[in-house]
Amino acid sequence: MAILFDAQTQIFQLHAGDSTYAMQVSPEGYLFHLYYGKHVSDSALGHLEVLGGGASFSPNPADAPRLSLDTALLEYPCGGTGDFRRPAVQVLEENGASGVQLHYVSHEILQGKPALPGLPATYLNDPAQADTLAVTLADEHLGLRVTLYYCAFAGQNAITRWAVLQNTGSQRLELRSILSACVDFPGSDFDMISLHGAWARERYVERHPLFHGGSTLQSRRGSSGHQLNPFAILCAKTATEEQGEAYGFHLVYSGNFLLDAEVSQMGGTRLSIGVNPYDFAWQLLPGENFTTPEAVLAYSGEGLGGITRTLHRLYRKNLCRGAWRDAPRPILINNWEATYFNFDADKLVAIARQAAKADIDMLVMDDGWFGKREDDQSGLGDWFVNEAKLGCPLRELVERVKAEGLRFGIWFEPEMISPDSDLFRAHPDWALHIPGQSRTLGRNQCVLNLTLPAVRAYLIEQLSAVLESTDISYVKWDFNRNLTEVFSPALPAAQGREVWHRYVLGLYEILEALNVRFPQILFESCSGGGGRFDPGMLYYMPQTWCSDNTDASERLKIQYGTSLCYPIASMGSHVAAIHQGGRQTPLSFRGGVAMAGTFGYELDLTKIPPDEILEMKQMNRNFRAWQKLTAQGDFYRLRSPFEGEECAWMFVSEDKREALVQYFRLRGTPDAWPPRLRLQGLAPDALYALEGWNRTLHGDTLMHAGLVIPNPQQDYTDYNIHLKQVDG
Ligand code: DGJ
Repeated sequence: MAILFDAQTQIFQLHAGDSTYAMQVSPEGYLFHLYYGKHVSDSALGHLEVLGGGASFSPNPADAPRLSLDTALLEYPCGGTGDFRRPAVQVLEENGASGVQLHYVSHEILQGKPALPGLPATYLNDPAQADTLAVTLADEHLGLRVTLYYCAFAGQNAITRWAVLQNTGSQRLELRSILSACVDFPGSDFDMISLHGAWARERYVERHPLFHGGSTLQSRRGSSGHQLNPFAILCAKTATEEQGEAYGFHLVYSGNFLLDAEVSQMGGTRLSIGVNPYDFAWQLLPGENFTTPEAVLAYSGEGLGGITRTLHRLYRKNLCRGAWRDAPRPILINNWEATYFNFDADKLVAIARQAAKADIDMLVMDDGWFGKREDDQSGLGDWFVNEAKLGCPLRELVERVKAEGLRFGIWFEPEMISPDSDLFRAHPDWALHIPGQSRTLGRNQCVLNLTLPAVRAYLIEQLSAVLESTDISYVKWDFNRNLTEVFSPALPAAQGREVWHRYVLGLYEILEALNVRFPQILFESCSGGGGRFDPGMLYYMPQTWCSDNTDASERLKIQYGTSLCYPIASMGSHVAAIHQGGRQTPLSFRGGVAMAGTFGYELDLTKIPPDEILEMKQMNRNFRAWQKLTAQGDFYRLRSPFEGEECAWMFVSEDKREALVQYFRLRGTPDAWPPRLRLQGLAPDALYALEGWNRTLHGDTLMHAGLVIPNPQQDYTDYNIHLKQVDG
């Protein structure tokens, strides 16, 4: 049993893989946090209780002079009643009062894991994979019940948390803050690692020490965004890729998020994670429930790499779903960087013909095939095939592409509406807007109000009509701006601030409907590159286009950062022509980088010389041979592109019989010693043959003494080293 409760000490203990999480109900009914970290065997952990009574200016509850909520370690802190740190829950009464006092009511240990209605969440493949603790707290005065859920995964260092709030009283409650989880650590000797960025520069790694006050990651854009990811690691200051304690926090949500590490006056750290309280308010009427998104907590005693491998496994097997979860993903050619808006059916078929010579699996027709869409000024919302532009009906194009031996995929940007579109002319009110105020444009477009049932129904029907009209195997779902004028005239005034969250719920409803209707289609999420790369989207779409920046050397940083928490099989990555910034890199280097992802192409194959087409064919053969390793193997980062001219990582199969090492050198250094790469994750006693290197070495030699890489003489060199165990 992964979850234990000791009735005498009132201590809960959750064991998840090699980690333990413990909390205690105090005699006064408060739920105190005791411990989160490496597995411990004692259940009598009451000595870890931190009451914090007696600090000046930290008040105590009337019934508990021995403690202060301001300095205690709490599981779900409340606003307005004596804890001056960030609250997880803040509620406004009808009379304008705001103060919550939650006390323990009951608990239940559930086998398996309940679903989160209307929200993406991790799931179990077998009920024995995890147990869930549900602890119910209540504020009798408010008529508020809060059930805290903790799902402990038996075989993995992962716990997921969420909360369900219920109005059991007779007055309307306004939720002002409803975070998914809070973890009160007794110390603050941590570094925080986060993923920041911008368009074409997503998920760069940043590491800094915590400081008093707060380190806050958040989105106020309506989507998770390019700028900050809903992910953070808190780790020991000495933690490295391989060593030291680290905690990962990730929100399964695609809208405004908050991830905050607040160091308190006593030197503790409160980690808060959930929907951003910024501009948020939710009316909870008597009898109604509100479910927060799920937060994922991962523990590692083996450095940052341990967090990565736990999350990769969890997301690969317990978050991504459907037929494509484990299936080898197709190698695709996307026409965006080949043609932009300037294409017709003949051009696409010509690309497909070349693609067939390189053994590419699928052609994806990107933006520009519908409505009036010759540039980014118009057409979004009119999901009708522009036959005049293509020169034929869609079905005919698909048949021609299939005749070349390729499957067919298509691009949509369903959440958007161009002011210059038939849809806008018919339904100007379907765009998010504030009556009387001008509409802010992004890429010349507005955002549809997905809180309106009619809009959701329109999108499901229009997209389905296209997808059912012919044989479509793949959809790229784009989203090219953030939300402004976040208002819906259809909602009562009191519910105006619900639109941010209702938008995300509306999006999830559409995605769920399309997943159910088209289980055979591979969906790829995209947002001007990787502007909405989050676990929420991964639940509906197992891959996300990493970045519009397809320059391979830039991509190393983007993919390295992304790999911190997202599986390699979820990273959309293509070989492009010499494109951004005009940087010239060899095809082999571009191919090597793209292989650490879903793999595909984004260039005009009709302009590629025959010898490069042949080289692509060989790269595709290699990718297919190694795809199981890259998509399902354990991932180890060996050299960071943020620290110099090198980048290296490796993939190891679960049984450790096979591995692939990728080494990339940006600028060559002719007079330097050859790099020595210490591998990771191999079986120390096993003998590995290095394919094509005429060498056999033991795992321990490769991991401790290292592998010597020939010193790259040129810029942009890459090596792919395939290792296979040899018996005996
Ligand atoms: C942004 C995407 O990231 C690109 O790949 C491409 O699909 C364009 N949108 C099309 O407008």
